[in-house]
Amino acid sequence: RVFESDVVASIAVAEQMASVIKEKQSQNKMAVLGLATGSSPIKVYRELVRMHQEDGLSFANVVSFNLDEYYPMRKTSDQSYYYFMHQHLFDHVDIKSENINIPDGELTIDAIDHYCRTYEQKIDELGGIDLQLLGIGRTGHIGFNEPGSYFESKTRLVKLDPLTIQDAASDFGREELVPTRAITMGIQSIFKAKKVILMAWGEKKAPIIKRTVEGIISEAVPATFLQKHLDVEVVVDENASLQL
Ligand code: GLP
Repeated sequence: RVFESDVVASIAVAEQMASVIKEKQSQNKMAVLGLATGSSPIKVYRELVRMHQEDGLSFANVVSFNLDEYYPMRKTSDQSYYYFMHQHLFDHVDIKSENINIPDGELTIDAIDHYCRTYEQKIDELGGIDLQLLGIGRTGHIGFNEPGSYFESKTRLVKLDPLTIQDAASDFGREELVPTRAITMGIQSIFKAKKVILMAWGEKKAPIIKRTVEGIISEAVPATFLQKHLDVEVVVDENASLQL
């Protein structure tokens, strides 16, 4: 879906999320949301906060699972995705803190495997993710599933691609300060979501959007795996759609 701007598109995405939350509320069930970080979802979160403050949208029945976190990463660091999510969404809505799940960048290395398996299990026990939000990196990564990630991949510790590290440099001051690893949900973990919305704004994303939507499905561009998903929406502004 091509929108005239990221603002209009973000409102449309927030509306879809709100309708999942409300539908689940009416059934007395939890809404399980898969959430993303990066600049792309910021306006979606802003609209959700507005809906909470002005329209009374409640997040009391929301369980969230974030896609990824740098490793190692302290929660209190302002580059952490933990910090990002609280700053942009969680601190402003009535989600219960025990319902927030974000991969833990503070674990010791030995604890990661077990933690990742538990993360997957928690999602499965809740009946899977109802709606998964995604941004996309210029490498074609979703979450931090860089080129070479298998379709079957699950939540795990990964190494970041040099281009991803370069793109994150401005957040960390310089490239050498960007963590080289991250914990990310896998392609399969993402793929199991009932509905997926991938967002991209701006001309910088136009080449990777073309490859994602029209390219052959391959590990070289992990986002292409989404072509096989039964309910996926690619939401772009005009600039990101330029090469389609
Ligand atoms: C990071 C995140 C991804 C995100 C990507 C794009 O690498 N791990 O989940 O999609 O950045 O970020 P942006 O939305 O800022 O372009």
